[in-house]
Amino acid sequence: MCGIVGYIGKQEAVPVLLDGLKRLEYRGYDSAGVTVFNQGKLSCSKTVGRLVKVEELLEKSPLPGTVGIGHTRWATHGRPSDRNAHPHFDCTQRISVVHNGIIENYIELKEWLQEKGHIFNSETDTEVLPHLIEEYYRGSLVEAVQDALKKVEGAFALVVICKDHPEHLVVARKASPLIIGLGKEENFIASDIPAVLPYTRDIFILDDGEMAVVEAAGVQVSDFDGKLLPKKPFHVEWDITAAEKGGYEDFMLKEIHEQPRAVRDTMAGKIDRGEMKVVLPEVKLSAAEINKLQKIHVVACGTASYAGQVGKFLIEKLARIPVEVDLASEFRYRDPIVGPNSLTIIISQSGETADTLAGLREAKALGSRVLAITNVVGSSVAREADDLILTLAGPEIAVASTKAYTTQLLSLYLLAIYLAQERGIISLNDRMGMLEAMMNLPTQIEKVLNTETKIKEFAGNFKDCEDIFFIGRGLDYAVSLEGALKLKEISYIHAEAYAAGELKHGTLALIVEGVPVFAVVTQPELYDKMISNIKEVKAREATVVALALAGDHDTEKSVDYVLHIPLTHTMLTPILSVVPLQLFAYYTAKAKGCDVDKPRNLAKSVTVE
Ligand code: F6R
Repeated sequence: MCGIVGYIGKQEAVPVLLDGLKRLEYRGYDSAGVTVFNQGKLSCSKTVGRLVKVEELLEKSPLPGTVGIGHTRWATHGRPSDRNAHPHFDCTQRISVVHNGIIENYIELKEWLQEKGHIFNSETDTEVLPHLIEEYYRGSLVEAVQDALKKVEGAFALVVICKDHPEHLVVARKASPLIIGLGKEENFIASDIPAVLPYTRDIFILDDGEMAVVEAAGVQVSDFDGKLLPKKPFHVEWDITAAEKGGYEDFMLKEIHEQPRAVRDTMAGKIDRGEMKVVLPEVKLSAAEINKLQKIHVVACGTASYAGQVGKFLIEKLARIPVEVDLASEFRYRDPIVGPNSLTIIISQSGETADTLAGLREAKALGSRVLAITNVVGSSVAREADDLILTLAGPEIAVASTKAYTTQLLSLYLLAIYLAQERGIISLNDRMGMLEAMMNLPTQIEKVLNTETKIKEFAGNFKDCEDIFFIGRGLDYAVSLEGALKLKEISYIHAEAYAAGELKHGTLALIVEGVPVFAVVTQPELYDKMISNIKEVKAREATVVALALAGDHDTEKSVDYVLHIPLTHTMLTPILSVVPLQLFAYYTAKAKGCDVDKPRNLAKSVTVE
């Protein structure tokens, strides 16, 4: 977690650093700060709170200078406070560091450094870094960083500035993202590409185990022992405006509305309309390899894991390969039975989630082939997987995932059909039925988006609820999980999803007069059962909102509010039914006055375990 930036060149550093940090605030926003070199010393401005508070401090007491580093924090070790905000310093104020990640052996290192007389000012793991570098400093910052890194265990992306060496910044990466934007007589450092896009489109993406000496005139990349490594710049094609709000009140609303485009783009070029089959250019699994697969594991976190729950249903139904879905944070600690005849599907919007990346590496170490579904080209997950399906959702800035989820679902549809087609167990007719329905999805999502005003009107009625239950069966249950997560993370209303048939085994005790229940009813073969479950909660006087298929007027009779989605192939309904659930969560949270883009305690990219 956390966002880090650095700048060295001819411009004033502070505006460049603040601009970059603004674009990284999705990574954390509980405190922020900058260090700038000027007139032979390092000056720092940092505070608990959002970035705007640092801006205010800097307006009152400007920090001139053309080289500097900056940080926006999401607390892991040490509560959000002025003292724990980055940058951190050594004892002599000679060295300043910003860090993203977790130094796992920091207690041991801190004790060792304290015995040597180092004085610590914060409760953070990060502060061991400047002190460790100070301990090894003999005049060369680069060598001191190299020596310090040999002692450090855990994850880090870091930028180091030293008052004796204003001619360069030293950066290093292990298991946390870091990129270097390449300018003319100036260079930029950041945790993520959008932070440098206003200045350059040519970047180095550092790999694990790489460090760099960044000067205004050039960048030298090496391993941690100083062995120089050739590095090819990556040219970014996408536009910065794609990462801005485009007239919407919040990024989340903009991203919900981008779903028709995102789904269309993700599908583009992956359906051969002549033969009506799926083509996945970056999936190299042969038909023989697919036929040998005995098991598929889906490994992911949060929303991505709920996409995996839909994926399990699709792959088992179409390709008849057993699928297990694991939360990435559990996967590698449960001694999973994974081997050469299994395929591990890693789903991650950011491609940098620490738990998910650890799951990927665990699966590979156990001999499994790994297929990644991710939204970020050049992310760790994209680079380390054997096969890749890129979701072309574009940058997702709001913490709550929306367009990434729908494009993950679309990718899983494509993959399930692909596996079935390569195994020769899906008829041309069935394939055509699904693919044609898939091609209609973008227009149908637009239709669902047209129900926004209705959802906005009634969502306000639920703003003061303490609990909301989401129920569904089969695919509708999988979507309910995502609906409940969306609502709780942005509105702070307690929300739980239940398989509708499971209610009577305990949860029904919580259903009393006026408790809201959101029922998803889109699966024809489970329709009667769902209506019985709705009747069960209505008999306890619950307030029921139903999400039903167009033309279903019977459900209407049993509930208080109803929303409809267009008719589509039975297996494709999740991609349509999730949209009203996203809008419901959004407008309930807005009615409560919540900051939907930056919910409390959360951050967009979770690069710590
Ligand atoms: C919820 C949400 C999170 C992410 C999870 C995994 O709206 O966005 O639950 O889905 O943190 O993130 P990625 O997909 O980047 O690995």
